[in-house]
Amino acid sequence: MPSVLITGANRGIGLGFVKEMLKEPSIDVVIATARNVEAAKDLAAIVNPKLHIVQMEVTDEQSVVAAVEKVSAIVDGKGLDLLINNAAIFQSLALDGDVNKATFLESFDVNCFGPLLISNKFHGLLKQAAQLNGSAQIANISSGFGALAQAMMDAIYPNNNKMFFPHSN
Ligand SMILES: NC(=O)c1ccc[n+]([C@@H]2O[C@H](COP(=O)([O-])OP(=O)(O)OC[C@H]3O[C@@H](n4cnc5c(N)ncnc54)[C@H](OP(=O)(O)O)[C@@H]3O)[C@@H](O)[C@H]2O)c1
Repeated sequence: MPSVLITGANRGIGLGFVKEMLKEPSIDVVIATARNVEAAKDLAAIVNPKLHIVQMEVTDEQSVVAAVEKVSAIVDGKGLDLLINNAAIFQSLALDGDVNKATFLESFDVNCFGPLLISNKFHGLLKQAAQLNGSAQIANISSGFGALAQAMMDAIYPNNNKMFFPHSN
């Protein structure tokens, strides 16, 4: 697989993806995005000609479009083979906590609309790679906390467990 882009790659699992992808001999181009490139010290410390660091705030359409232009120049007509939508935020929406609309909407903006916006804007580059190599992929990294229909986790939905399973301990 010639090229991969990872969002939210300056720390956590995203940074781990970058390090693992750089070890993979079949990958030629690893694009790591971060919303604050200047603060992305762990990425900057990686010395590897395959690595390209690109600014991208996943809730900002202009930032995403600018990133598409930069990535287009990096892959230089070969398209993007794998897009990993990894960037996310975790905010507790516990019924007995500090729930407010702004927090809820921010979670949806980053975790739900972000991957949709990015997939939409990078679709042209993914299609280009698919035409050249037969396929291209989008990997959306999710979480058990995103499974609202299975809201059984005490840490985020402490009361739902009791509501759904009133006789459980
Ligand atoms: N850690 C876990 O136990 C776990 C479990 C299940 C699933 N996951 C999933 O794995 C993925 C990574 O999790 P993680 O634990 O590595 O998270 P993390 O350490 O909190 O890192 C999140 C990354 O997303 C970036 N990000 C957040 N909001 C952004 C925005 N608006 N625009 C651009 N980048 C943004 C952060 O950038 P900044 O540094 O600038 O904030 C950071 O690079 C997430 O999709 C999460 O749902 C994690």
